[in-house]
Amino acid sequence: MQHILITGGAGFIGSHVVRHFVKKYPGSTIVNADKLTYAGNLLNLTDIEQEKNYHFVKGDIVDGDFVFSLFEKHKPDTVIHLAAESHVDRSIANPMEFVHTNVLGTVNLLNAARHHWKDEPDNKRFYHISTDEVYGSLGDEGLFTEETPYDPRSPYSASKASSDHFVRAYWHTYGLPVVLSNCSNNYGPNQFPEKLIPLFINNIIQKKPLPVYGKGENVRDWLYVEDHAVAIDAIVRNGKPGETYNIGGHNEWKNIDLIRLLCKIMDEKLGREPGTSEGLITYVKDRAGHDLRYAIDASKVKDELGWVPSVTFEEGLSKTVDWYLANGEWLRQVTSGDYMQYYREQYEER
Ligand code: NAD
Ligand code: DAU
Repeated sequence: MQHILITGGAGFIGSHVVRHFVKKYPGSTIVNADKLTYAGNLLNLTDIEQEKNYHFVKGDIVDGDFVFSLFEKHKPDTVIHLAAESHVDRSIANPMEFVHTNVLGTVNLLNAARHHWKDEPDNKRFYHISTDEVYGSLGDEGLFTEETPYDPRSPYSASKASSDHFVRAYWHTYGLPVVLSNCSNNYGPNQFPEKLIPLFINNIIQKKPLPVYGKGENVRDWLYVEDHAVAIDAIVRNGKPGETYNIGGHNEWKNIDLIRLLCKIMDEKLGREPGTSEGLITYVKDRAGHDLRYAIDASKVKDELGWVPSVTFEEGLSKTVDWYLANGEWLRQVTSGDYMQYYREQYEER
């Protein structure tokens, strides 16, 4: 891994991955290619932006010429592909954006890697970061394994499933040395406040209603974002070409239980009367096609690569809340302008 190209490195998970690789591999160059959509923010990387082994390039992976020029100029031997449209609710409102970035953008990267690596295929890796949502929705029992058949049910998960299929097709058809992982819900600092945990933290700070979809009985398996970055490091170095690894937190929570815990933690940290934030809970119209439960069997990545999560949920949630409370300016910046418009469209009619 001399030259590592990370796509989507200004986003939530990407910024933690960039930081991890810049710090851990000072002898490698890390190029972060990102379009800086509403979800991408260079403020996420101010602490490492001056490092000699770090370079940022602004560009759109849907633009094939841009992607080819990235490979021409930076000659990556390793690609860690995170750039995507990532929010389920936005995919329900505007599916085509997800087809463009998640499907076409991924195929552009695959084509560029295939073209540039054809003469020297050794020691190359194309690592595609995906989601557990491609497996569909679980009932009360069972876990997603790497063998679970794909059954995507939202435009977001359908676009990610499609990109996963293209990545595997390039392995089978052209021998491109790919590896994939499918991860459960991440949380932690720098997550855009459209996703459950940061949205609710922001609303609690502002004493705004907490919009719980349906009855709040949907279950997610939560993983602290830095643990995901460590798993990605293990998989890119030691994962077998053509293989898929599921990553999860062994940490299932019903939304409403998680929200109550978050309210309790925030009342304590904000010095508010116990129960104050729970009073903000408001049940609203359910998400269309809302998947009931996701839960990951992460035994393959544990048994083969020795990865297990290291941060407990209580510790991770506390660190996350502390980060948002200490970074009011970041929150203010990302919630100004377009965010208010999005928020009105998403929540006013619910
Ligand atoms: P995010 O929305 O926070 O960040 C996405 C980043 O991609 C942003 O920096 C954005 O500017 C960039 N981007 C978007 N479109 C682009 C384009 N056309 N060209 C270049 N850059 C573009 O997403 P995230 O939550 O950090 O997720 C990162 C990846 O991990 C995604 O592929 C997502 O599917 C996957 N994933 C996320 C989670 C989760 O819980 N957040 C869980 C499993 C997998
Ligand atoms: O499972 C991995 C996936 O997790 C990633 O691939 C996605 O990129 C990521 O966004 C996340 O998808 P979810 O849809 O599970 O995350 P979200 O934070 O949007 O919602 C979590 C749960 O909370 C879900 O059951 C819907 C519910 N919810 C969400 C919001 C935004 C609410 O009840 N109210 C809300 O306002």
